[in-house]
Order: sequence, then structure tokens, then C-alpha cells
Amino acid sequence: MASRAGILLASVLLLSCLAETSYGVLFSTLKQSLIVTASHVEANGTLLKAGEDKISVTWGLNQSLPAGTDSAYKTVTVKLCYAPVSQVDRAWRKTVDNLVKDKTCQHKIVARPYNASMQTFEWTVERDVPTAKYFVRAYAYDAVEVAVAYGQNTGPKKDSNLFEVQSITGRHVTLDIVSVCFSAFSVLALAGFFIAEKTRAKSSKRSVGN
Ligand SMILES: *[C@@H]1O[C@H](CO)[C@@H](O)[C@H](O)[C@H]1NC(C)=O
Ligand SMILES: *[C@@H]1O[C@H](CO)[C@@H](O)[C@H](O)[C@H]1NC(C)=O
Ligand SMILES: *[C@@H]1O[C@H](CO)[C@@H](O)[C@H](O)[C@H]1NC(C)=O
Repeated sequence: MASRAGILLASVLLLSCLAETSYGVLFSTLKQSLIVTASHVEANGTLLKAGEDKISVTWGLNQSLPAGTDSAYKTVTVKLCYAPVSQVDRAWRKTVDNLVKDKTCQHKIVARPYNASMQTFEWTVERDVPTAKYFVRAYAYDAVEVAVAYGQNTGPKKDSNLFEVQSITGRHVTLDIVSVCFSAFSVLALAGFFIAEKTRAKSSKRSVGN
């Protein structure tokens, strides 16, 4: 009984250790075996408005690779990633080879079971996506959720096929500030009128009394 519990505990510990190490996968060790393309649903310029505009993402296995390349692939997660031009001076978007520390791809687009044929997903850029230039990357994971392969819609320098997102939060914050200022101004103006009225009432009473 006790030994069984011991074995159970040991396997749980081992599993969690394995899970722990799996997060330490280095991007540079992943095989680039997926092909990813992304396009604006309404091809009009390169600017996407967060919360409104859509992109269509397609991903699948590079069919010129040998059969069995994808035998371990179980799931695919497609992500929106910061292009180097939008990472400059922003440590919170930094690219690190160790995937647990990497901050390049912070916005999940979709996660799906792996399928050897091309998959397509239409995604509305979420409202919380900040203004920046992005590319799209897909990661393939194995049965224990370790990243084993990737693909992206840009080259190794991550400077082509980028698209630009324009955040609407900026716009809203400005509007909020403007409306707060207006409300504060109207309260002050109202208070000012009151004081002016009272003073006038008092002085006119006084002048009537005199
Ligand atoms: C692109 O957007 C502009 C301005 O919103 C519009 O005038 C034009 O017709 C659009 N073009 C296409 C192809 O949708
Ligand atoms: C697909 O794989 C072949 C063989 O490795 C490679 O030459 C080719 O560049 C790959 N295609 C893409 C689009 O990555
Ligand atoms: C894989 O994708 C194809 C085409 O999208 C679909 O017909 C098929 O059912 C999918 N297979 C699995 C196992 O999901």
C-alpha cells in the first residue's frame, strides 16, 4: 500500500519535472516544417484596426518534407508575434530562444488538433492587441505539449509580410481624458455660477437693505 503510494508520488514528481523541462524548449531547436500564410480578409492597405478588422490564417505541413515528419504532432497553436521593428526598446516584447522566456508571440489566434491538410482560420484582431507590427507563427506540439516544430508567414529576419495593427484603446483613452476634462470643467463652471449667483444675491440684498 505504502509502496504503491510511493510509486504514485514518484511518477507525479517525474511527470511534473518532465513538464517543467518541456517549457525550456529552445526555439532554435524546432524544425521549420509548417507553412503559414496570413492575409487581410478585406485587402485594403496594411493597417488593421484592433477589435474590427480580420485576418485569414492558413497553416499546414510543408508537403515536400519526408513522410512521417509530422508523426509526433498533436496540436497546433497559431500566434500573433511582434516584429523586431516593434520590439526595439521594449523588454516586455523581447525574443528569447528559451520559449518559456520568449515574449515574441503574446497573442493567441487559435489552437487546433493537428491536421496534415491545410487549415484556415479567420480571426478578428482582438481589442487588447497593441499598436505594433506583427507576423504570424504556428507552433506544433507533441502529445506531452512540448513544442516540436513551427512555421511563420515571414522570413528568418521577420521583416517581410508584416501587418500593422492600430489599437483602438489609444483612441478610447484620449476620448476618456477629453470627457473627464469636460466633466470637470462643467462641474467647476457650475460651481462658479453658483458662487457668482450667491455673491450677487447677497450683495443685491445688502444694497436693498441699505
Ligand atoms: C479601401 O478603403 C478606402 C477608404 O476607406 C475606400 O475608399 C476604398 O474603396 C477601399 N478599397 C477597397 C478595395 O475596399
Ligand atoms: C519546404 O521544404 C523544402 C525541403 O526542406 C524546402 O526546400 C522548402 O523551402 C520548404 N518550403 C517552405 C515554404 O518553407
Ligand atoms: C483535417 O482537415 C480536413 C480539411 O479541413 C477535414 O476534412 C478532416 O476531417 C480533418 N481531419 C481531422 C482528423 O480533423
